[in-house]
Amino acid sequence: MRLKEKHIILGITGSIAAYKAATLLRGLIKEGAEVQVVITPSGKEFITPVTLSALSGKPVISEFFGANDGTWNSHVDLGLWADLMVIAPATASTIGKMANGIADNMLITTYLSAKCPIMVAPAMDLDMFAHPSTQKNLETLRTYGNIIIEPGTGELASGLTGKGRMQEPEAIAEEIISFFSEKKN
Ligand SMILES: Cc1cc2nc3c(=O)[nH]c(=O)nc-3n(C[C@H](O)[C@H](O)[C@H](O)COP(=O)(O)O)c2cc1C
Repeated sequence: MRLKEKHIILGITGSIAAYKAATLLRGLIKEGAEVQVVITPSGKEFITPVTLSALSGKPVISEFFGANDGTWNSHVDLGLWADLMVIAPATASTIGKMANGIADNMLITTYLSAKCPIMVAPAMDLDMFAHPSTQKNLETLRTYGNIIIEPGTGELASGLTGKGRMQEPEAIAEEIISFFSEKKN
């Protein structure tokens, strides 16, 4: 239980690699973390909130507003609750919005409100990853102090081969565990 009492926000976006987020979530829960999933509207096309809420034991947050009853989700409270926010997978679009403060969904408003360290695991096709726009946005995130978990090189969902594969969930979980253990020492 190497993540006992740790509060982690897991941000999920609209990439094929969203299915790997379920394995990451399971790994974090097994290590004792309390995990709140925040998913973009597009992310829900790739993985169902039912799977994620069953694994995390919490309702998944996606929209600003509840079901027509005036309730709303507070990105500010969520940002203060977290010890770490991990966005895995992070699409080119989300990385661009994070770099430029385009706060049009719950995930980005939570990111902008968060006081905790941020990890970003990009996932995209090789040409999207290599594009100067993506590279510039990632560089901007680095200047904000965000930790970029470099994607791997290999076979991509498109059938092409190159750099852009999201890091494996087990490797991301290990990175999170070592982040907290280094912080303690
Ligand atoms: C089948 C499919 C797979 C996609 N995979 C990716 C991906 O791996 N990475 C990426 O950056 N965009 C990918 N996209 C495009 C994003 O879904 C799109 O840019 C979306 O607006 C991202 O929204 P979000 O970042 O708010 O979740 C994919 C689109 C489709 C239709």
